Amino acid sequence: MIILAFPDYLSQARRLAAKLDAPLAEAALHHFPDGESLVRLPPSLPGHVVICRSLNQPNDKLVELLLSAATARELGAKRLTLVTPYLGYMRQDIANRPGEAVSQRIVGKLLGELFDDVLTVDPHLHRISSLNQAIPIKNAISLTAADQIGAFLKQQFKHGVLLGPDSESKQWVAAIAKNIGFDYAIAEKHRLGDKQVEMTLPDGDYRNKPVIIVDDMASTGRTMAKAAGLLQAKGCGDIYAVVTHALFCGDAYDHILNAGIKNIWSTDSIDHPSSCIKLDALLADALKAIT
Ligand code: R5P
Repeated sequence: MIILAFPDYLSQARRLAAKLDAPLAEAALHHFPDGESLVRLPPSLPGHVVICRSLNQPNDKLVELLLSAATARELGAKRLTLVTPYLGYMRQDIANRPGEAVSQRIVGKLLGELFDDVLTVDPHLHRISSLNQAIPIKNAISLTAADQIGAFLKQQFKHGVLLGPDSESKQWVAAIAKNIGFDYAIAEKHRLGDKQVEMTLPDGDYRNKPVIIVDDMASTGRTMAKAAGLLQAKGCGDIYAVVTHALFCGDAYDHILNAGIKNIWSTDSIDHPSSCIKLDALLADALKAIT
C-alpha cells in the first residue's frame, strides 16, 4: 500500500501514513494559465494506492481525482481507495427546481466508478440514510468524528449545552451529547439564500452554562452567527462552536467570531488554524479494517 497525498492535505496524509506505517508519496500538481490541471504521480506504484484529499472547493479537485485515478490504474494499481474526509457535492440530493442536477447522485456515481473504496467523515446525508445510496459501491464508508469531537469538548468543558442549528445536525449533536453526557437542543432553520438564514431556538434556559453550537460544517458562517445572535438575545453567556468541516468561505471565520462566538474548533478534514481535532486514528482504523 502507498498513501498518495495532494499538497492541500499533506500534513494530515503524513500523520495517516505514520499511523499505518505505510510509505507516502506526493502527487505533483501544475495549473496551466488556462486553468487546466497537470497531475504527476510517482511512476512506480504498488498494487494498492490510497489517494487522500478532501473535496472542499471541489471543482478542480474532482478533475484532478479523475486524472489521478485513471493514471494510477494505468501505472498498475489494482485497488484504489479514496480517503476524502470532507466529501463535497453531497448537499444537493434532490432537484429543488425542474432541470437541476442532483449532484450528490452524479458525483457519487463518478467516485464509485473511479475507486474501489471511498472513506469519508460526517458526510452531509440528509434524505438518504447510507453513503452507498450516493456512492454505489460496497465499500462506501461513512465515518463519524463524534467520538473525537466529544473527547475534545470533554477536555474543554465540565458541563455545557450543545446546540444543533438545524434538524440535519441532530444526528451529530445527539451522538456527541450522548457520548459525553451533555444536554442538547436543536434549532429550526430555514435558508433563504447563500448568506441568509432564519432560525428559531427551542425554549430552554441558556443562561448558566456555556453553549456549544455543533454542526457538520461552517460554510459562509451565517448559520453559526444567526444561532449566536439568538442565544445572546436569550441572555446566554459564553458561546463556542465546533464543526467537523472548516469550509469557512470568504469572511466566514471572522463573521463567526464577530457574532460573539468566543472560539470555534474543527477537525483537520480541511487545513485551517481552527483544525485542532485530528482524524488520523479514525481513518487509519477504518483503512486497517478494509485491507
Ligand atoms: C447545512 O444544512 C449544514 O449542516 C450547515 O448548517 C450549513 O452548510 C452551514 O452553512 P453556512 O455556514 O453557509 O450557514
